Amino acid sequence: MSVTILNHSLIKHKLTNIRKKETKTKDFYQHVQEIAGLMAYEISRDFPLKKVEIETPMCKSIQYEVAQDVVIVPILRAGLGMTEGIRSMIPTAKVGFIGLYRDEETLEPHEYYAKFPSTITSSIVLVVDPMLATGGSAVAAIDMLKKRGAKDIRYVGLVGAPEGVKLLSNAHPDVDIYLAALDDKLNEDGYIVPGLGDCGDRLFGTK
Ligand code: PRP
Ligand code: URA
Repeated sequence: MSVTILNHSLIKHKLTNIRKKETKTKDFYQHVQEIAGLMAYEISRDFPLKKVEIETPMCKSIQYEVAQDVVIVPILRAGLGMTEGIRSMIPTAKVGFIGLYRDEETLEPHEYYAKFPSTITSSIVLVVDPMLATGGSAVAAIDMLKKRGAKDIRYVGLVGAPEGVKLLSNAHPDVDIYLAALDDKLNEDGYIVPGLGDCGDRLFGTK
């Protein structure tokens, strides 16, 4: 298990933009996508490669291709905001979906939807959700994926709280965690501080 905070100037700059309370839906969504694309570029650095024989206009040549398929699994709704950004970097990736909402009182996650490509058992599975708060949603999503046979799972989020990182790494020590930032704490309502507020609402303009 590893926790990687992606230390990249462009990621930090764009993250500052989405943290600002005055950033509106259109710019918020665009920056989330761009950050997710940059994160995908960094995370895929060590994806396994296989040798392939190709023919250039000049000659036959041995070159390299990514050896494993990739499946992106956004946790609805907010994970959708990151999906197109990752697909712009890995356009051959398939996409599965997990619908979870967090009860506002208990903060417990509730499942309402699941749909996965059959290749999740042999693919690199990127679970994406911008906010790792208590960690309950991430743990539940990964439980669902493991039940369906996924083995190589990585969690990709924008902002994490220490509480969420702890819960996720204890529940799923085999899952590497990638974040754009590790924030200070959760407040009494279970929101990340300083955070960026309610990510789903800010992405889709629902408040
Ligand atoms: C948010 C967020 C995560 C979850 C994180 O979703 O997108 O899925 O909360 O909180 P946790 O780590 O404490 O589980 P929310 O339940 O608000 O649903 P939404 O994306 O549909 O708005
Ligand atoms: N979900 C959000 O959208 N934001 C938080 O800070 C915590 C959970």
